[in-house]
Amino acid sequence: MNVLDLAQRRHSPRAFSGQALAWEDLAPAFEAARLSSSSYNNQPWRFVVGLKGEAGFDALLETAVEANRAWMKDAGAIVGVVSSGVLEKTGEPDHAAMYGVGMAVNAMEFTFVAQGLTSMQAGGFDRKAFGELAGLPAHHTPIALLAVGHAPEGHTPRPKVRKDLDDIVFKIGDRIPG
Ligand SMILES: Cc1cc2nc3c(=O)[nH]c(=O)nc-3n(C[C@H](O)[C@H](O)[C@H](O)COP(=O)(O)O)c2cc1C
Repeated sequence: MNVLDLAQRRHSPRAFSGQALAWEDLAPAFEAARLSSSSYNNQPWRFVVGLKGEAGFDALLETAVEANRAWMKDAGAIVGVVSSGVLEKTGEPDHAAMYGVGMAVNAMEFTFVAQGLTSMQAGGFDRKAFGELAGLPAHHTPIALLAVGHAPEGHTPRPKVRKDLDDIVFKIGDRIPG
């Protein structure tokens, strides 16, 4: 599968089979994240993992808003995605930290697709509760919960709703709509 195939297949399933995942199922995606590029090579991504069947899974699930808990409960694992906002070498703010974390998570999601798994991110969760649960140090920001698992039997992805290329790609001299 090439990268465009992965991008076409990746989708937010809003449903999982309930099957648990093992650490080995997640390891390739974490390796893909680890190899991502980042501003100043600061590697701002941090991940807090709960596998289904572990207390950590239930605790992470508990931080999700109710609408997200409805489908997330059937995931095989939940990964709390965190951004470290300080450049380790200088102590200055890392203005590109969240950008780097997003790139790393995209690499993870493509890896899951390549493995025949599916994943979905959720920004609807209690960040304060998550921060306390994970014991996040200063300058660490919770970004999303990333649910991973197997799609349910007979699952059909929703059609993608996207802007046209004309709406997002411009040349100098074009009027970019506000
Ligand atoms: C950072 C992030 C946070 C999201 N938060 C939620 C959420 O809390 N609840 C939800 O149902 N979907 C959430 N989504 C899923 C988006 O709605 C979805 O990605 C978008 O509609 C495009 O659909 P697709 O992922 O199937 O291509 C989130 C996606 C991202 C990337």
